[in-house]
Amino acid sequence: MTAPSSQDSLKQKLDQLVGEFRARMSAAVDEQTVRKVYADFGGPQGSIRSTQKDALKAAPGPEKRAIGELGNAYLKEIDGVLERRLEALKAEAAERDLSRRIDVTLPGRAHRRGHLHPVTIVRRELEEIFAQLGFVVAEGPEVETDFHNFEALAMPKEHPARDMQDTFYIADRDGRPTDMVLRTHTSPVQIRTMLKNKPPVRIVAPGAVFRKDDDPTHSPMFHQIEGLCVDEGLSFGDLKGVLLHFVRRLLGEDMGIRLRPSFFPFTEPSAELDISCVFCRGKGCRTCKGTGFVEIGGAGMVDPEVFRHVGYDSERYTGFAFGFGLERMAMMRFGIEDIKDFYQADERFAVQFEQRVWS
Ligand code: FA5
Repeated sequence: MTAPSSQDSLKQKLDQLVGEFRARMSAAVDEQTVRKVYADFGGPQGSIRSTQKDALKAAPGPEKRAIGELGNAYLKEIDGVLERRLEALKAEAAERDLSRRIDVTLPGRAHRRGHLHPVTIVRRELEEIFAQLGFVVAEGPEVETDFHNFEALAMPKEHPARDMQDTFYIADRDGRPTDMVLRTHTSPVQIRTMLKNKPPVRIVAPGAVFRKDDDPTHSPMFHQIEGLCVDEGLSFGDLKGVLLHFVRRLLGEDMGIRLRPSFFPFTEPSAELDISCVFCRGKGCRTCKGTGFVEIGGAGMVDPEVFRHVGYDSERYTGFAFGFGLERMAMMRFGIEDIKDFYQADERFAVQFEQRVWS
């Protein structure tokens, strides 16, 4: 049995050569060296090929085929090693090239995100706070009838209380006055809601309102949020509890409120709601004119006269209502001193709210 032993010794030699080939291949770090290593082993004069040739020459006729096949299997193996090494070198080069073009040490370029207007931020925060108390959001038109804006709110024509809100009236094409107005407050949404729904009612109605006003704390267009709650057995205490709750949720648990007796034709009793000044935390400053409080809106128990207009039984039901300026609250929430900042589209003002994106 000479055949197996000559094949065995050939196998041994080739194993050793392939071992050397693999080691030199892994050490080769450029294509030229890789190809040179390959030529040294697998090229026409390479050691693996010449070992195969010598073995073929020495082998007796019947063994030549097996020797040839054995040598070819080794040559195929080193071809595979060559191919993979070249691919790996190519990938390494591509990576090096990329990191040369991209300076990964440079600071990132920030993309500017869109942002909500501060009044919208506060409006949404309030909607969320009231939703948790079971209030739903209601809406009404900005161009309103005299009936909804005044009459049904116990302000008949010629009523002096109409002068409290300097009104924009809508004229017809010929310039004649109509009974339509730009709503002066969000209270007409109370009427629309009660005309459509039976009690109990629990709504908040945010929206734009319009008045002939113009100074650092008054703008001709501004926003209010109205609240209305009607049920059996509601008292002024419920109103106070809701007001204190929302002010603390919006502006902080250390905030206080103050209810000052006031007058609104559609509530009785009526109150003006003041909140602690956020600029001085109640100590007294320029914004609160030294009082420690800032007025944000009106509130009160729904007047039975209003219930009469919407067909509610005022013997059975009571209700409370409130209406606040959203800009005033946004000024307190974000420490803004001039109401005009909201409307001047000054980018330096707007970007301050960039990070406060509602999610
Ligand atoms: C009213 O508009 C009543 N409808 C509020 C109300 C509702 C009372 C329900 C009782 C029951 P008043 O006119 O005071 O009330 O306005 C309410 C708030 O709107 C003010 O306190 C102020 O915060 C804000 N406001 C009024 N006028 C302007 C203005 N021109 N610019 C910005 N905010 C204003």
